[in-house]
Amino acid sequence: MEKRDYQKEFCCLIDRYAYRYSRWQIWNDFLYLSAAALANVFPIPEREEREKQYLSVIGRYTAEEQKIFPEMLTIVTLALDENPEQDFLGSLYHRLELQQEQKGQFFTPYDISRFMAEIQFAGGSEKEELERNGYISVNDPACGAGAMLIAFANAAKRNGLNYQKQVLFVAQDIDHTAAMMCYIQLSLLGCPAVVIIGDTLVKPMFHPDNEVWYTPFYHLNRWRFSQHSGPEETAEVPRKMEGSGMPEEMDKEIRLPENMEFVEGMDGQFTFSLKKVS
Ligand SMILES: C[S@@+](CC[C@H](N)C(=O)[O-])C[C@H]1O[C@@H](n2cnc3c(N)ncnc32)[C@H](O)[C@@H]1O
Repeated sequence: MEKRDYQKEFCCLIDRYAYRYSRWQIWNDFLYLSAAALANVFPIPEREEREKQYLSVIGRYTAEEQKIFPEMLTIVTLALDENPEQDFLGSLYHRLELQQEQKGQFFTPYDISRFMAEIQFAGGSEKEELERNGYISVNDPACGAGAMLIAFANAAKRNGLNYQKQVLFVAQDIDHTAAMMCYIQLSLLGCPAVVIIGDTLVKPMFHPDNEVWYTPFYHLNRWRFSQHSGPEETAEVPRKMEGSGMPEEMDKEIRLPENMEFVEGMDGQFTFSLKKVS
């Protein structure tokens, strides 16, 4: 069977309405709509606000035009599912030359990220941290589309860790577009992650001016990261019990995007999957 060129398929979709919208606008709208759909799976305090914003963004498009957005998310999900060892959105961003809009922002090629992630495990120091806390954490304070963190997740897996449970990912970027790319990719890969939008140098981490996005797998695992706290910790999100799958009370509150389902993933953990498009 011929291998699908997911990037090419995505580019065709983004250019379908090029006579009406710029690539930059469609890209950013796609990012917001996808991130909000993923974030709103859980009953978070920001759910209503993000839903309102979602409706305002999607409302700018006709019913026919709106169809490209779930198709784009499907493509990203299938691409990462087929090959999780890549920064799909980051490289697509460069292929579409969207970095020009951001004064030449440049993301690390995935092979370099992969090498840098692998050497983090060379000394075996993660074992001690894992023993002490039950998890390890990794932080990219200028995360871009998340290449370094994606590579870290894959390196953790190769080194015997279940990154869906045993790694807390923290990402920050000053640029909203970059942070949304990172959020979507970490969400789809099942990384428990906190993605923060704000200036790391002036306003690091949970500064009140920063926007904070938690991935669905963060919510599923947040009880594991008890030492980690942020403003969201006050949210009324039910906690998962040790040893069980998804808690029943959480199951009732989950609102998955239309073409998405939860399936049992690595080591009995739940993961996202898309109902495949024909
Ligand atoms: C060279 S890119 C690297 C991205 C990613 N770490 C990678 O390896 O692909 C640098 C990123 O840092 C972000 N950045 C620049 N200054 C920043 C700041 N003061 N606080 C947070 N992020 C910043 C940019 O928006 C950009 O996404």
